Amino acid sequence: MKLLIAKDYEDMSKKAAQIIIDQVKQKPGSVLGLATGGTVIGTYKMLVDDHKRHRTSYKQVRTVNLDEYVGLHPSNKNSYHYFMKTHFFDHVDLPANQTFIPNGLADQVEEECKQYEQLIAQLGGIDLQLLGIGRNGHIGFNEPGNPFSSKTHCVTLTESTRLANARFFKSVDEVPTHAITMGISTIMKSKKILLLASGTKKAIILSRFFNEEVNEQNPATILKTHKHVTIIADEQALSLMN
Ligand code: F6R
Repeated sequence: MKLLIAKDYEDMSKKAAQIIIDQVKQKPGSVLGLATGGTVIGTYKMLVDDHKRHRTSYKQVRTVNLDEYVGLHPSNKNSYHYFMKTHFFDHVDLPANQTFIPNGLADQVEEECKQYEQLIAQLGGIDLQLLGIGRNGHIGFNEPGNPFSSKTHCVTLTESTRLANARFFKSVDEVPTHAITMGISTIMKSKKILLLASGTKKAIILSRFFNEEVNEQNPATILKTHKHVTIIADEQALSLMN
């Protein structure tokens, strides 16, 4: 496990973007596992800036997103489809048919999960998975207690996660109760993992991450057993480290 200490959000985003750019330059047909949320917005912004300035190309890249809410149409501003389009896909040369996000509107959610897992395997697995971390240690939407053996599945979101995400909705009642997420075992199969954390709101969970043994009540701790994980955290996120 490698820890890169960033000065602040911008520095974290810059370091993260550089790792993704290096990956794409080294392997233009990379499969990138992508995340949504406030933490990664700056990283996408820097990837877009770099694409405009230096023409780093995503023409051969394939992307698979970690998760999507159940019941939100892709045109809904709070869907992760919409997030990815507005923050990244619409601004680079990545063909739309090479981007994959779980279908939160699928009639057969279980079948959708199975197919998503198969799709990742057919793409040859994920070369680099980008992750944020929830304040309760979730990665993707794998909430505390979720088995480490889980594959892509449908989850009931915890109240704390719905409250944390309510900032993007008109009220917490509008936050969906379910989501489709890659499982922990899906994430762990990625060849490389990049976990980002920024700000004081992530300080408690980061100190728990470093101090706790690997345990399912703190899902992110499993990453400590992955062979190629890089964590980029800023000074505020690391402020409770001892
Ligand atoms: C998003 C995702 C989540 C977020 C996490 C942190 O696709 O899977 O695990 O990475 O909730 O969210 P932010 O960055 O908004 O603090």
